[in-house]
Amino acid sequence: MIEVERLAKVYAAPRSGFRAHGTARTVQAVADASFAARDGAITGLLGPNGAGKTTTLRMLAALIRPDAGRMAIDGIDVAAQPYAALARTGVLSDARGLYPRLTARENIVYYGGLQGMPRDAAEARAEALAEMLDMRPLLERRTEGFSQGERMKTALARALVHDPANIILDEPTNGLDVLATRALRESLRWLATPAGGAKCIVFSTHIMQEVERLCDRVVVMSHGRTVAAGTVPELLAQSGQDDFEEAFVRLAFGMEEGR
Ligand SMILES: Nc1ncnc2c1ncn2[C@@H]1O[C@H](COP(=O)(O)OP(=O)(O)OP(=O)(O)O)[C@@H](O)[C@H]1O
Ligand SMILES: [Mg+2]
Repeated sequence: MIEVERLAKVYAAPRSGFRAHGTARTVQAVADASFAARDGAITGLLGPNGAGKTTTLRMLAALIRPDAGRMAIDGIDVAAQPYAALARTGVLSDARGLYPRLTARENIVYYGGLQGMPRDAAEARAEALAEMLDMRPLLERRTEGFSQGERMKTALARALVHDPANIILDEPTNGLDVLATRALRESLRWLATPAGGAKCIVFSTHIMQEVERLCDRVVVMSHGRTVAAGTVPELLAQSGQDDFEEAFVRLAFGMEEGR
């Protein structure tokens, strides 16, 4: 279970370098984000470029500190107890960040070690995840030179090595081909079922079909704010549309009308 309440984050513009007169000193990346994601469900964070999705997920993953607001993972306050919160969370960030000199297996097992897993347990988990993600042939290869999809699979396996109850993914299908996208969607769907552990899954995207196909619930983000939330049918009803793309445009950009 993931809860986010009135989150805010301002980035300072770089001090050095040329800054034309009138250029903003700061960027309000997240202004007011609130949502809840429950166990056994996939929650999509949908928003246009620059809406603040990555920033929100990075705060949840304790990679950056919010300026205001509260975040809890399984009731654990992320700011107060980041390690306890992350022990219950798998994170796939936008920068896939693998060690190029290690094989895929070593990357996964090493990360298991960081999460306090005994080596043989991490090895066994690497095997099981390689099966699930259809990446067995990759295990003994160094990740240097991996394609986008291969990198994503390895990073996902690494994020899931400690069998976390909560899974946070930033644009997980970015750069994946049709088959890999399907495989990933199926894996995520399965992870949300009771057999897969009824995980709480939150992912960001700006792909409509992904949201329609994959999400149990959608949180729409625009200009750093969460502006709407609900199931796809609920959002259609709320916006008075019957096409989801149109509904999204209304919900995400509707605020700008008449400005
Ligand atoms: N490190 C940073 N320094 C300064 N500004 C930043 C930084 N990271 C993000 N921003 C700004 O904060 C805003 C929100 O960015 P963020 O990456 O969270 O958006 P996003 O919703 O993930 O967008 P996208 O769909 O393009 O990935 C943007 O205006 C962005 O330029
Ligand atoms: Mg992003």
